[in-house]
Amino acid sequence: MISALMPNYNRADLAFERGEGAWLYTVDGRRFLDFGSGIATSSVGHNNPHLVAAIAQQAQRVMHVSNLYRVPQAERLAERLVANSFADSAFFCNSGAEANEGLIKMIRRAQAKSGHPGRTRIICFNGAFHGRTLATLSATGNPKYLDGFGPRVEGFDHVPLNNMNAVRDVISAETAGILIEPVQGESGIHVADFRFMRELRAACDEYGLFLGVDEVQCGMGRTGRLFAYEWSEITPDILSTAKGIAGGFPMGAVLTTETIAKHMTPGSHGTTFGGGPLACAAANAVLDIVLAPGFLEGVRARAAQLDEGFDRLSATYPDIFAGRRGLGLLLGLKCKADVALVQDAAMHEGMLSVTAGDNVLRLLPPLTVTQADCSQALTMLEGAARRLRAHMAAQAETVA
Ligand SMILES: Cc1ncc(COP(=O)(O)O)c(C=O)c1O
Repeated sequence: MISALMPNYNRADLAFERGEGAWLYTVDGRRFLDFGSGIATSSVGHNNPHLVAAIAQQAQRVMHVSNLYRVPQAERLAERLVANSFADSAFFCNSGAEANEGLIKMIRRAQAKSGHPGRTRIICFNGAFHGRTLATLSATGNPKYLDGFGPRVEGFDHVPLNNMNAVRDVISAETAGILIEPVQGESGIHVADFRFMRELRAACDEYGLFLGVDEVQCGMGRTGRLFAYEWSEITPDILSTAKGIAGGFPMGAVLTTETIAKHMTPGSHGTTFGGGPLACAAANAVLDIVLAPGFLEGVRARAAQLDEGFDRLSATYPDIFAGRRGLGLLLGLKCKADVALVQDAAMHEGMLSVTAGDNVLRLLPPLTVTQADCSQALTMLEGAARRLRAHMAAQAETVA
């Protein structure tokens, strides 16, 4: 057992020694189709030659210099992200929670420095997940994650998703902004209605609030657009992203407009590691792949293939599956059977997945997943459904 590690994770008894595309190989020689991607992070697959070469080459030159100096790799990455989004500037950090922590600070500071120091509260949504730092836990609001960690950080109001009356009811003179995941991942793959996103934008404009989108999980091509907000045709004021941005190399980013960024004067915020040459070389390599002509169309094509297959599975195994959810390759299969049993049955078939709230199986293949991989995933899920059906029938017989 791995006794020297803190017991804060529930780990499956699998140890991988290498990966290739959407496949992972264990130390003892078994192979698994990775439809979890390290929780939506191995965006360009395992052992991607372009990403590996970029990291290796950068590591041989210089890995770390700090933000005391110019970092050309970061300048290039920022320019590319700005050119492909609503944003005017980028801040780089090391994780999703850190990106959201920065986003919250930037919203508050921009309000304070533009004459509204009393505007400090941020409206968040039930079922959201924004991270594990003290502020992002309070933004998340889930009592299970807050248990035992003392007083909450003040300043977050929670309302139901897709309910504009609830949002408008909670807006006050102290409200600084709204923070929403365009697709909630952790709580069960809940897509915010595109119309709701537009109504949030309108409310922000009406009251002088900043609209923040948490695209830590759903950004960087995951939904078949570079950013998920694009689907609803709105322009946010600020965006956080992480996970897939550097294909597995730890990194986070905040993208925002000049209106907010101009208040982040030297010394107002920072990080030792954030935006270093190595992480930015990795992220530039990922962007080479994700921004290549036709790539995002490919993501949407794979998503359509899986959507169709999931509909078929739900119709054939209504005792196991109750329909699909999601956008692009951020997919959920709502389960009738216990999702932990479905995940386990899929693992026995050779497929890795992630569970989410609401008894949903989360399926997040690398964005580079092939048509053949997706066909195989559907066959494995069918095998899992049959295996589980047989198991449930045997159990019913034992009880009778
Ligand atoms: C939407 C969202 N925001 C923030 C986070 C936190 O990111 P990290 O675990 O990199 O701190 C996550 C992680 O799952 C997430 O899904």
